[in-house]
Amino acid sequence: SRAEVEALLRGRIRDVPDHPEPGIVFKDITPLLADPEAFTALTDALAAFSIEHGATKVVGLEARGFILAAPVAVRAGLGFVPVRKAGKLPGATLAQAYELEYGSAEMEIHAEDLSGSDRVLVIDDVLATGGTAEAALRLIRRSGAQVAGLAVLMELGFLPGRARVLPALDGAPYQALLTV
Ligand code: PRP
Repeated sequence: SRAEVEALLRGRIRDVPDHPEPGIVFKDITPLLADPEAFTALTDALAAFSIEHGATKVVGLEARGFILAAPVAVRAGLGFVPVRKAGKLPGATLAQAYELEYGSAEMEIHAEDLSGSDRVLVIDDVLATGGTAEAALRLIRRSGAQVAGLAVLMELGFLPGRARVLPALDGAPYQALLTV
């Protein structure tokens, strides 16, 4: 059941106090990835969401989003497209700037990997401020493809990430499997 999957996933996320700096409790997903039952349950839940919403492509966000999105794409029978930090992709890219806690960064996608007939599900591990996901959604719209939705393993409920991404989703579905 949905509640059993949620409990399984929640139990495999490790709190690491004071990482990467004092006062921050880091949510470490490596125990979940190392547990085949939990990793499979996560992959199956996200693959079901992608199929339910008619996705044709799965986009993963560097770096931890790649680990989740690639098996979802395979499980759902869809293509995988990476959104990478600037300067990594060799072909013609679309680029989108986004804000970090201090300063800003840029992400890129290979424009030719999406077409106007694609419906794209964006997958990442964590929704925190929402800046990363918002920028990815903008990239997908700029490519001419449609947004099928956004799915994350966990939302940090004490930050306003959800409110930030909702306008960028423009009615497309959002799912956080866990809120912490
Ligand atoms: C983390 C996380 C999300 C993003 C969420 O990635 O994996 O992609 O931050 O934060 P936001 O909602 O405030 O934008 P990070 O930039 O640490 O990159 P990494 O996965 O390469 O470590």
